[in-house]
Amino acid sequence: MNIRVGLFFGGKSVEHEVSVITGLQAAQNIDRSRFDVIPIYITKQGEFYTGDEVGRIESYRDIPTLLRRSTRITLVNDNGRVWMVRYPAKRFGSSIVGELDVALPAVHGTNGEDGTLQGFFNLIGLPYAGCDILSSAVGMDKFVQKCVLKECGIPVLDALRLRSGDREAAEKIEARFKYPVIVKPINLGSSVGISVAHDRAGLEDALELAETFSDSLLVEPAIEELVEINCAVLGDANGAVASECERPLGSDEILSYEDKYVGGGKKTSGASKGMATLGRELPAKIPDAMRDEIRSLALRAFEALGCSGVARIDFLLDGKEKKIYLNEFNTIPGSLAFYLFEAAGMRYRDMLTRLIGMALGRARREQNITYSFDSNILSSASLGGAKGSKGAKR
Ligand SMILES: Nc1ncnc2c1ncn2[C@@H]1O[C@H](COP(=O)(O)OP(=O)(O)O)[C@@H](O)[C@H]1O
Ligand SMILES: [Mg+2]
Repeated sequence: MNIRVGLFFGGKSVEHEVSVITGLQAAQNIDRSRFDVIPIYITKQGEFYTGDEVGRIESYRDIPTLLRRSTRITLVNDNGRVWMVRYPAKRFGSSIVGELDVALPAVHGTNGEDGTLQGFFNLIGLPYAGCDILSSAVGMDKFVQKCVLKECGIPVLDALRLRSGDREAAEKIEARFKYPVIVKPINLGSSVGISVAHDRAGLEDALELAETFSDSLLVEPAIEELVEINCAVLGDANGAVASECERPLGSDEILSYEDKYVGGGKKTSGASKGMATLGRELPAKIPDAMRDEIRSLALRAFEALGCSGVARIDFLLDGKEKKIYLNEFNTIPGSLAFYLFEAAGMRYRDMLTRLIGMALGRARREQNITYSFDSNILSSASLGGAKGSKGAKR
């Protein structure tokens, strides 16, 4: 019997639409001789839907109709098996829609890429592809990941973390950095809410913009002679490979959401096809030594964060200082970064097979970890008295 893969996409995130493209692209490329694909669309409200329509890109032009024609589900663990159950349940007959063996999350940004969905899968006992809870959460927080990377000797730009609404933000930033600086919401993606400030007035605008997207902000020096290089890594603790390097090409000072998802698509077909069609130089025209250095930094960083599955790691090259900095992690990258592996000679289909294989391997390893410890504490426990059960723990 084929392995049943739940392909999750959409989600409560500013990158909802891009995720639909990543998800359906993956669905199209999975090896159907080994896997049955069950597309599961997460709405912006966090509801799960499945059905034939959910698997068709054209259906997303009219989402209310798509939802009417699809089946809303919840996931339930019953004795170690994970079932998709119709919600609301049918009054008569079974509400079971099907069973899942493994999840392939293709949800970008908050609630999907940050450990939330991974935590949900863990809790219901569904093996899943990609980074685990901790590496997803660290990969999503632009400040925490810098702390971990610094500790592991990987070059990152100095940065200041600030709470939204900090009245002394501008003073703190000016005391630490010279202009220009760049202000980012701490945990978003796709360049949403990011801007460069060249002076105090610009800084106030940049802070105000970023604050509308997050409770926490990250400020760092803005590189003026900037070249961006991205490199992805596929693997886990048992071994990983780095992809080809790409140089994304943008039209603005900051590579914008439009550059990433609209610009590239416009030139080709008039419709966005996700990260795969972003204007890019692939392979990036950089000296071999630099390419080797970036690929080796990417592998070290993947290991430093404890990643698994696929992650795209983005670098900033400072032309003036001639330095390479790791900018950020994307633990569920646009288009799952398949085009970077394709450029290195790996077919998307094979990459997906490896991702699912690693997910099942991790689940098998976890099964051998002991989570229950038989004890007879409850046989004599009571909640009475000042000691209670806490008092019993020494
Ligand atoms: N320190 C920096 N100096 C100059 N430009 C930057 C810097 N950091 C980010 N950028 C620009 O902003 C874009 C988005 O920033 P990034 O940190 O990658 O956030 P996101 O998670 O939204 O992709 C980058 O692709 C790059 O074009
Ligand atoms: Mg980025």
